[in-house]
Amino acid sequence: MHKENMNGSLSARIAVFISGGGSNLQALIDASRSGLLHGEIVLVISNLRKAYGLERARKGDIDTFVFKKKKYESLEAADADLLARLKQHKVEYIALAGYLKLLPDNVVKAFHGKITNIHPALLPKYGGKGMFGHHVHEAVLASGDKESGVSIHLVDEIYDSGRILHQVKVPVLPDDTPDSLAARVLEQEHKWYARILDKLIRGEYENQHD
Ligand code: GRF
Repeated sequence: MHKENMNGSLSARIAVFISGGGSNLQALIDASRSGLLHGEIVLVISNLRKAYGLERARKGDIDTFVFKKKKYESLEAADADLLARLKQHKVEYIALAGYLKLLPDNVVKAFHGKITNIHPALLPKYGGKGMFGHHVHEAVLASGDKESGVSIHLVDEIYDSGRILHQVKVPVLPDDTPDSLAARVLEQEHKWYARILDKLIRGEYENQHD
């Protein structure tokens, strides 16, 4: 359970990792500011300088960092710098929101049980390397499944394999395109990510093995 701060209210320090538009990041920022999420987004990290989510962070007065491994002498130096920046910002929780890279092992170990990801399908189906964005929705439509949805899960060293905290189902309609299905799923992502992250921060998933 996350400790209360000096004012007696819960507030966790959160870093959000993105690679794209950052609509989930925006939903988390909004939830933090409205009090639905008992946490503050203190750092937004992207592997892509042009990710629009970085602009959202700047507009929200949130520190940003572009993490590109190629800029470093070695992978070890890159991973060590990433962890150092998270520590500098006193980050306690990490939310992946459309981040297309695997988190380095040192970060996964340091934040064990405190890293979440949101995936736009019902894991364990349609997960793993290469399953992102429209690829996921195209695969769901090709399968003929009647339902898709959102999975919010803890992150470990393997893509999309950590403990599932929460899933929300949406129908797949006969005339769906990848875009129309993505929009229906995204609406639920925006609704649920902050709520589930908040439950994690409040310790509501401790000692549960569902
Ligand atoms: C979302 O569909 C999320 O589930 C997936 O990547 C997408 C990110 O969208 N991991 P956005 O950048 O938050 O708009």
